[in-house]
Amino acid sequence: MSAMQGKAELVIVGGRVVTDTWSGNASVVIGDGRILAVLDPSLDVADLGASRVVDATGMLVMPGGVDPHCHLAIPLGAYMTLDNFESASRAALAGGTTTIVDFAIPVPGEDPVAALDAKLAMAAESRCDYAFHGCLNAQPADARDVIKAFAERGVRTVKLFTTYRGELMVDLETIESVMAALKDVEGLTYIHAEENSAIERAQEIAAAAGTIDARHMAGSRPPEAESDAVAQVLAVAERIDAPVYFVHQSIPSAVGLVQDARRRGVRAFSETCPHYLTLDDRCYLGESPERFVCCPPIRDASTVAQLASLTAQGMLHAIGSDHCCYSAVQKHQCAHDVRIMPNGLPGVETRLSVVWSALVHAGDLSPQAFVALMSAGPARLNGLYPRKGAIAPGSDADLVIFDPEESRTISVSDLHMDTDYSPYEGRVVTGWPSLVLLRGRVVFTDGKVVDPGPIGQFLEAGAIRER
Ligand code: URP
Ligand code: ZN
Ligand code: ZN
Repeated sequence: MSAMQGKAELVIVGGRVVTDTWSGNASVVIGDGRILAVLDPSLDVADLGASRVVDATGMLVMPGGVDPHCHLAIPLGAYMTLDNFESASRAALAGGTTTIVDFAIPVPGEDPVAALDAKLAMAAESRCDYAFHGCLNAQPADARDVIKAFAERGVRTVKLFTTYRGELMVDLETIESVMAALKDVEGLTYIHAEENSAIERAQEIAAAAGTIDARHMAGSRPPEAESDAVAQVLAVAERIDAPVYFVHQSIPSAVGLVQDARRRGVRAFSETCPHYLTLDDRCYLGESPERFVCCPPIRDASTVAQLASLTAQGMLHAIGSDHCCYSAVQKHQCAHDVRIMPNGLPGVETRLSVVWSALVHAGDLSPQAFVALMSAGPARLNGLYPRKGAIAPGSDADLVIFDPEESRTISVSDLHMDTDYSPYEGRVVTGWPSLVLLRGRVVFTDGKVVDPGPIGQFLEAGAIRER
């Protein structure tokens, strides 16, 4: 609890405040877009003179979600995702996420800094706040120059891919030079880890056997490809003493490798996604298996249960949506061959509720650990904390007032993402945002987005010193 400085405009009373470090009943005082104070609930807030008091009785008051892994308007292969910053940021707000981190992915031959500048321009339409990961898809003449240009623009995280030959894949030498350069600016290398030759081999065998269609997606990218690439990249990080973050980890052994490395002192971090915790490979047996095609693929039920258990034990550092918004038609077009299909699932809007329901409502994860994975952890690992991911004096007043008991059946017709399907269609989910504030402004209430217009702010990343 702390004393208040500044003019109170809005007070949230009656709720249970949950952060990654603290949880308890409290009143949250907001002014000028920031948190001014977190007060003992017994104090009379009438004296503060705020023009609005929100009663959050029965609700949780959590920091707005920070989604560390979103792909907006991304051209990959022959396909372009359908959404833009306007639609995706609205969907994010409806789902309780107030900050998204997108990727500035160059097309082959494009200058990575120019790709970032183009994304910065597109993001002017954003309704929520945003940051970027840079990306390199080829060895630059001098990685330091590129990383310096990123850092000058406020970008200190860079995603590198060990797969997608010809489009995004880079070799270990490039990974090492980028990692070393990022280390010097206190940045962090994000890695998509799947060993490409193992995947190409599995796909060749599948193609020869006539099993390269979406129904056989799980077999086309074997789990060993993921663990092998994680081991290779960890060896580089350890050798040069640089931090590394693995995106969308889908198997317990890959998370285990990160944990082993951490015990040896490597600053290594694990992210997973809602779909790796809540869907299993039986989805590929249904009517529309292509709707579940993503990389890495959805794994078998036992793997999913073990990954959820590791998450509940605190072994993960962030949960990102890996939001990739294709339509059912786009997904269907090449369902006969997963090598040319658009990969990825829509999910920026459902991230909080799906994970709350599956892990917290189910009794396996505490609300504080949930905030750590959904908001504070991603904010810390993107150099945005404590401006984002915290409820403390001085932090942005990005809040989600969350009803932990509200049950709804997920239906694409109620969602705001620019697609016509949800991988969770028909799933009953308990726990939904009731009210969302972005820098003190109500942006979602009564089940509707209150479109604030393009007020999203670009967030420059600070030094990332997490251990
Ligand atoms: O299937 C996925 N994950 N698509 C998005 C691109 C990526 O690899 O993150
Ligand atoms: Zn990836
Ligand atoms: Zn991704």
